Amino acid sequence: MDAIIARNLQKTFGPITAVDDVSIAIPEGGIFGFLGPNGAGKTTTIRMITGVLTPDAGSVRILGTDVQEDPLTAKLKMGVIPENGTVYSDLTAEQNILLTAKFFGMDTADRRKRAHEILGQLGLLERRNDLVRTFSKGMRQRISIACAIVHSPPVLVLDEPTTGLDVYSRRLVIDTVRQMNRGGSTILLTTHNIEEANALCTTISIINRGKIVATGSPEKLKKTFDTSRYVEISFDQPVGPALFFAPFITRAEPWGDKWRVYTDDPDRAVKHLARVAERDHLAIVSIATSNPTLEEAFVQLTTGA
Ligand SMILES: Nc1ncnc2c1ncn2[C@@H]1O[C@H](COP(=O)(O)OP(=O)(O)OP(=O)(O)O)[C@@H](O)[C@H]1O
Ligand SMILES: [Mg+2]
Repeated sequence: MDAIIARNLQKTFGPITAVDDVSIAIPEGGIFGFLGPNGAGKTTTIRMITGVLTPDAGSVRILGTDVQEDPLTAKLKMGVIPENGTVYSDLTAEQNILLTAKFFGMDTADRRKRAHEILGQLGLLERRNDLVRTFSKGMRQRISIACAIVHSPPVLVLDEPTTGLDVYSRRLVIDTVRQMNRGGSTILLTTHNIEEANALCTTISIINRGKIVATGSPEKLKKTFDTSRYVEISFDQPVGPALFFAPFITRAEPWGDKWRVYTDDPDRAVKHLARVAERDHLAIVSIATSNPTLEEAFVQLTTGA
């Protein structure tokens, strides 16, 4: 069964179409990433999926429960980390977690045990009795995550969980997400960090101006953009563009002290470049081929570059 199904979601704010016919299906156990520039519609989509915002059109099911028809049941199945965390500043770290656990109906013994476990996991045990008001941004974010996972939800939804975090906090958050996933939770997250999406997600959707422009595994999305491959080469003396004329070379442009030669067949391009260098008595100082990156796919899809 799919853990999250969103069908044809639509949301406008006045003249702005924030989300335009967005559909996603995330199988149980998957880690799905929403990637898109600022204002693309990620948070609006997440808010509709988690039942915070009513869509103008479309529907959402969380493990078979319709979010609009039965919001309480749907919400009990989810752990949510919203874009702007909702931790209580005037409670301590531990009180925040215990309160959330109580809200989700866990009994007292379970609450204490689980709070202790999570505080340890997120490196906050020593600060458990401090007011959250005195916490740094990264520590607040970790409390936000602690509250979202306290009831071991089968579905975990995170809106930019690692933005603004240092390497240590980021790793803790990612490890926690991975651990929840290994324990069986389905994950939906948004991120600006392409490498993070690449490393973490089984499927990614790239969203731009409210619309999904591509969906696939990180590797599949990269392959779609194979044509953006290039060879970077430099010679011991200046050369002109004429050197790079060949049917399998799309274009060549100066790139610092090198030339960047775009091609859909790097193997042929390298052999060709070696031949013309030999012919024209040029020494090759450096040569390297690039593989398409997810970042290139992202930039092409969201800027039309
Ligand atoms: N409550 C609101 N009222 C009016 N416009 C809104 C509201 N919420 C979102 N929008 C608009 O909807 C569009 C999508 O915003 P959204 O917050 O979903 O983007 P995002 O992809 O999460 O961006 P970011 O990466 O900056 O978090 C934007 O143009 C935004 O101004
Ligand atoms: Mg957002």
